[in-house]
Amino acid sequence: GAPLEVDLSPIQDGQIVNVFWRGKLIFVRKLTEKEITDMKAVPLSEMIDPATFDSRVKKGHDQWLVSYGNCTHLGCVPIGHSGNYEGWSCPCHGSQFDAVGRVRRGPAPTNLPIPPYAFETDTKIKIG
Ligand code: FES
Repeated sequence: GAPLEVDLSPIQDGQIVNVFWRGKLIFVRKLTEKEITDMKAVPLSEMIDPATFDSRVKKGHDQWLVSYGNCTHLGCVPIGHSGNYEGWSCPCHGSQFDAVGRVRRGPAPTNLPIPPYAFETDTKIKIG
């Protein structure tokens, strides 16, 4: 499949946009300053699949999470802005993910994966 360009300029603070690439759902989320601060502060010891904030975003682009959008348990689509971790909760079996897509409550075993992508400008990414 061809790469997918996404224009970030219309996306508001806190907003989650769904896009599809190679038939897969991808979340593009603009984090708020509070979410960034909170996510940086979570101890790795509290995580099921420990990952630093920096490993979940691109350097110099702290406000943007780009992740696959299917639960890593059995593939349902988690609901945004729900659950206890400023992120998503899965309607199927109750997994919860935080604002940068790290699993914080099972049964999902792993974080929402990050697809290959790059910033072309500060307001445009290319997925793939
Ligand atoms: Fe999400 Fe099972 S598919 S918790």
